Amino acid sequence: MATALIVLAAGQGTRMNSDLPKVLHEVAGAPLLVHALQSGASLSPSRVVIVAGHGAEAVTAAAHDWTPEADVVIQAEQLGTGHAVAQAAPALEGFEGEAIVLYGDTPFIRPETLEAMIAARAAHDVVVLGFEPGDPARYGRLVMEGKSLTRIVEFKDASDEERAITLCNSGVLCASAPVLFDLCAALENNNASGEYYLTDVVELARAKGLSATAVTCAEEETLGVNSRADLAAAEAAFQARARAEALDIGVTLTAPDTVHFAFDTVIGRDAVIEPNVVFGPGVTIESGARIRAFSHLEGCHVSRGATVGPFARLRPGAELAEDVHIGNFVEVKNAQVDEGAKINHLSYVGDAHVGEKTNIGAGTITCNYDGVFKHRTTIGKRVFVGSNTMLVAPVTMGDDSMSATGTVVTTDVPEGAMAISRAKQENKPGLAKRLFDKLRARKAAQQKKDS
Ligand code: UD1
Ligand code: CA
Repeated sequence: MATALIVLAAGQGTRMNSDLPKVLHEVAGAPLLVHALQSGASLSPSRVVIVAGHGAEAVTAAAHDWTPEADVVIQAEQLGTGHAVAQAAPALEGFEGEAIVLYGDTPFIRPETLEAMIAARAAHDVVVLGFEPGDPARYGRLVMEGKSLTRIVEFKDASDEERAITLCNSGVLCASAPVLFDLCAALENNNASGEYYLTDVVELARAKGLSATAVTCAEEETLGVNSRADLAAAEAAFQARARAEALDIGVTLTAPDTVHFAFDTVIGRDAVIEPNVVFGPGVTIESGARIRAFSHLEGCHVSRGATVGPFARLRPGAELAEDVHIGNFVEVKNAQVDEGAKINHLSYVGDAHVGEKTNIGAGTITCNYDGVFKHRTTIGKRVFVGSNTMLVAPVTMGDDSMSATGTVVTTDVPEGAMAISRAKQENKPGLAKRLFDKLRARKAAQQKKDS
């Protein structure tokens, strides 16, 4: 059955106290909205409609960055969740499949939960996702009669008896699209908030002789973000789950609580991640690689047997082949480093290609930026780049070539050649000793005067 996702993302999020629309705040390097889209993506929806309002321009841009095929509809005034869903009706005109309503600020609904809701649709017209929170607080309450959901009552409108119900509404709801839009069109706003409540579709459905039920999930899945504290809690929940998953598939995390994952980090079995490692978006670490303490990686790929760090930074486009060694205080950006190459100390390698078995000495810099343009450095195979070599790009060092320590390479170095560019050394006999004596005498005289 074809499925459409309707993601509600029009709310302001006043309690975030932010200029950024709430759904664009990030967890694990991706906007909340994207997490919601990702959980819905597991159903392979044929249509995605995002209802935007506050900060619609920024929300639209982000939505299209991540899900280019999504339709963004605008809810100019936030008149309630039911009104929000109704705004998606024109975009889904003629769509006969299932519609699933998700909230853009609720990032962690599991794919299995959505699948269970679709499955429950076989026997019921409207399926609502419920949960039993530790503290039911101000959530809407699900009024059940056996397996039937008779209505949802908002906290503000609930009697004491209804408030005692512990089964709460997550907001996620599933029905056939035409039925959902028919019901939404019939909603009224005569309630405590003066809003068009999506939750009222349950009673309306029942009045039409349709049936409703609830599927339940764990409270963690329905964690919604309304404040910075919630955002921090969502981040913590994401990280806890990512760490547990990594350990589960056979990754060693020496100090799991200090490793930070991105929403899309991929790490192979038997990789070792030492303490205090941060993964930004777009990182793949193959089996058996080792990422040593205090390293920061984003947008990069580390192959089998490679070691990185401690204190290394891999930036977007860093591509490390097997058995590459990247050591301390080394930054690699947009560079392919071939098998067995070593960049062990204090270097910057950017917009470059480093051939296999090449050794880059300490303090080497690819000077890739002239203030306006970026240029490439190409270093061949089995090259020995002497310590403190400046490679002024665009420049090439041929296979089996060398640069002497301290060389500034400004022209291409042919295969097998040695580049040396530095002032010739001259020794002045006794000069150091005479200079020391003079300076020490001056200091002693000064100290005598001051005392
Ligand atoms: C809603 C539910 C409540 C449930 C709770 C779970 C209703 C009437 N109530 O309450 O039963 O327990 O969620 O968190 O549905 N939104 C729009 N446009 C609007 C209004 C809301 O896009 O006009 C979006 C918000 O941005 C948010 C989501 O819908 O992502 C939920 O809205 P919110 O106002 O937080 O609903 P609650 O009052 O918390
Ligand atoms: Ca809410």
